[in-house]
Amino acid sequence: MKKKKQTEFIHNGYKRSSIQETSLPLYLTSGYVYPSAEEAELVFDEKIHRYQYSRFDNPTVNQLEKKFALLEGAESCKAFSSGMSAVFASFMCQVKKGDRVVAARALFGSCYNIIKDILPKYGVEVIFVDGKSLKQWEKAINKKTKCIFFESPSNPTLEIVDIASVARIAHKYNAKVIVDNVLASSILQTPLHYGADITVYSTTKHIDGHGRTLGGLLLSTQKFYEEKLKFFYRNTGPTMDAFTAWILLKSLETYPLRMEQHCKNANRVAFFLEQHPKIQKIIFPGHANHPQRTLIQKQMSGPGNMISFYIKGGKNKTFKFLKNLSIIKISNNLGDTRSLIIHPATTTHKKITSKDKNFLGINDNLVRLSIGLEDNEDIVDDLNSALKKI
Ligand SMILES: Cc1ncc(COP(=O)(O)O)c(C=O)c1O
Repeated sequence: MKKKKQTEFIHNGYKRSSIQETSLPLYLTSGYVYPSAEEAELVFDEKIHRYQYSRFDNPTVNQLEKKFALLEGAESCKAFSSGMSAVFASFMCQVKKGDRVVAARALFGSCYNIIKDILPKYGVEVIFVDGKSLKQWEKAINKKTKCIFFESPSNPTLEIVDIASVARIAHKYNAKVIVDNVLASSILQTPLHYGADITVYSTTKHIDGHGRTLGGLLLSTQKFYEEKLKFFYRNTGPTMDAFTAWILLKSLETYPLRMEQHCKNANRVAFFLEQHPKIQKIIFPGHANHPQRTLIQKQMSGPGNMISFYIKGGKNKTFKFLKNLSIIKISNNLGDTRSLIIHPATTTHKKITSKDKNFLGINDNLVRLSIGLEDNEDIVDDLNSALKKI
């Protein structure tokens, strides 16, 4: 009988060792010994499959990969040292000079920088589109297109891309669809079920959920892993360390519960912010007036914990508001138990061209709030008192 999500996240994919521990063991080892030189040779020839070197595979990291693949319904999952190393690998393991990459313009700063500044150095042609416009995707994707990339919702303006429709366009040209699912989380959205080929996560965010570790995950078919990713991963070494994987295995046990409470808190905070006279506008996927409401309801099962909003006034007032917060801390991380807030225009999105910032609505009045797991009335009180002081 299929179990409920919270039960699955605790029990599924849990492989005990012979001593039958309740909490999984941590294998802090870089290498593994071979009983003979002959066996070592067979392993290096890939005729015997066993642990060889922790840059390739480690039992604790493999536990995380297998559990996550099972929970999300992916054939393959590989763990990375950060979300950005997973994003970078998703391109570099497959593109070559002369290929085209098409991406939504609304992206986290580092994703945007890889696409805009790093890929072209290797002769890859890059085209940015308005991710909301199917017409623009249709126009930009052609037979030279190796892959397409978007976040949904995007960081920080929470734009939504129609995963199934864009995948349909991309697949006409055999282009691979890479979705950065960080802001949605795998609890609220599973892009592979909507036609994406590759999903990437920064485990640094909701998956860790307590702001302790850096990591990334890349989900794909086994074929993609074997044919494209494996060689790149093993030789360039963007591997997650065993200790991080061990922490994340524990975090997964509370992931659905945490996301449920994150969403509840975000709904309460959004309700407060949308009524406040000093707020010009809020962007929140759970908002009844979000322009992409129907699409959100189609592909997400909850609003997430991110709210972006514009303070009336300008940079000075916005900075003053941030300074007057007490529980909510200024930090560029997100998905933590703590509520965290940032001013994207001067931090995470500073290097984005002014034209793109204008297009995306990243201006001096915009702040991005990651709602934590504090009591939501305390979060509201904190916002209220900081707003009163401006
Ligand atoms: C949408 C998105 N993708 C990727 C990343 C990168 O993750 P990491 O910091 O783990 O490299 C972030 C980090 O904020 C992000 O918000």
